[in-house]
Amino acid sequence: MAQTFPDHFLWGGATAANQLEGAYLEDGKGWSTADTALYMGKDARKTMSLGDKMTKDRVLQAMEDQSGHYPKRHGIDFYHRYEEDIALMAEMGFKTFRLSISWPRIFPNGDDVQPNEAGLAFYDRVFDTCLKYGIEPLVTISHYEFPLQLALKKNGWLSRDTIDYFVHYAETLFERYKDKVKYWLTFNEINIIGMTGYLSGGILADGIEHMLEAQYQAGHHQFVASALVVQKCHEIIPNAQIGCMLARMEAYPETCNPKDVLASVNADEMNFFYTDVQIRGEYPSYMQKFFAEHAIEIKFEPQDKDILKQGTVDFLSFSYYMSMVVGESQQEETNGNLFGSKVNPYLQASDWGWQIDPIGLRTTMKKMYQRYNVPLFIVENGLGAEDVVTDDQKIHDFYRIDYLRSHIEQIALAIEEGVEIMGYTPWGCIDLVSASTSEMSKRYGFIYVDLDDDGEGTLERLRKDSFYWYQKVIATNGADLS
Ligand code: BG6
Repeated sequence: MAQTFPDHFLWGGATAANQLEGAYLEDGKGWSTADTALYMGKDARKTMSLGDKMTKDRVLQAMEDQSGHYPKRHGIDFYHRYEEDIALMAEMGFKTFRLSISWPRIFPNGDDVQPNEAGLAFYDRVFDTCLKYGIEPLVTISHYEFPLQLALKKNGWLSRDTIDYFVHYAETLFERYKDKVKYWLTFNEINIIGMTGYLSGGILADGIEHMLEAQYQAGHHQFVASALVVQKCHEIIPNAQIGCMLARMEAYPETCNPKDVLASVNADEMNFFYTDVQIRGEYPSYMQKFFAEHAIEIKFEPQDKDILKQGTVDFLSFSYYMSMVVGESQQEETNGNLFGSKVNPYLQASDWGWQIDPIGLRTTMKKMYQRYNVPLFIVENGLGAEDVVTDDQKIHDFYRIDYLRSHIEQIALAIEEGVEIMGYTPWGCIDLVSASTSEMSKRYGFIYVDLDDDGEGTLERLRKDSFYWYQKVIATNGADLS
């Protein structure tokens, strides 16, 4: 097979601090919103528990609660086991490792003037370990967690003050890690603040009458913060690249009924709004009507237009797990990553109802590259599934290999069709706590972690069959997917 993937293609895997690290109050770390996510049991699989409606009372109760199980407080203990975990990633041949930094590990209250040295030193050790193996860290500055004290004090991103705190946080990271980290992302899945208003936005529902407006206002503050941070990154680390991150929702029309086709175009607009602002540097005109219809008034400061224009990102990174179907019919919806969808009769779904669609990945890459003409980076993709450990400690996860293979095949075809792709980091390369349901039994990893939904287990790491398969994929630079 002729070489398709470029020599410098960044093969790797992706994680996030709040689902991985544990050690939630160790070495000076402050509380994060993720630390209040209670395990809701198997029923949560159907109901998304990202906690967009948290109130102050519920937060305070969670902080007091010693009896409930809060899996994100403990993660998979990466905080203490990062050396072993990164060594396993190196054994697979990773070129890059996507991880996030926990803001309250660096600034425990979010608005502190001085950073927590122990927190900074932890990430120094993590990056040094990566670099020792030739693995480039790809760092998300904010991934589904927010300093809890800042949520209580300022109502998170609803306050414009949060922009200053975030810029100070990011600047601190750039200064500290300028010789170690070349690839940065600002906000994970910035487009779903409507689902993660509390988790990533720190927004508490108390006293908010128009939640949709509050979420778009918070999103505006994130846009401004992102643009300022992009500029800081370029000033402090001239050889760095910094991208935005979108939860990409490819939405097919249910039929060729023009109304269904229009519905899919409209769905694209709601999704691409976020990348339009971060890549083109301005609000798209189509949002004006949406804002008017929903009585949303975004407070813009006079300088915001210029800030957005000057802080456009270098590349577009995105997560892709599934596609969706939109249309006029009353057909019942199935589950999905963050959003439900009508059933697509041409596709199979995962056990969680996410509709598996490798060709949709290619469609979406082509569409985004045509729209923006900037490099793309697939920073999340993968299959959440329950794994079985055999008596001889093996995990035969052929279903995961099938899923990943079919998606990588489509990436290769997209590259051949002229799309520029920087790399591929499948989600949860090591099993970790689920973002939406806080369970462990929904696993994505190449590396199995012995931990169950109740927090019981030895935490031993095991290599799944997919571990050896991905090792070969990387070693052949994507030429051998068998
Ligand atoms: C993405 C998030 O939307 O999906 C991750 O960025 C998350 O944090 C991943 O873990 C998979 O979702 P879940 O709910 O299965 O963990």
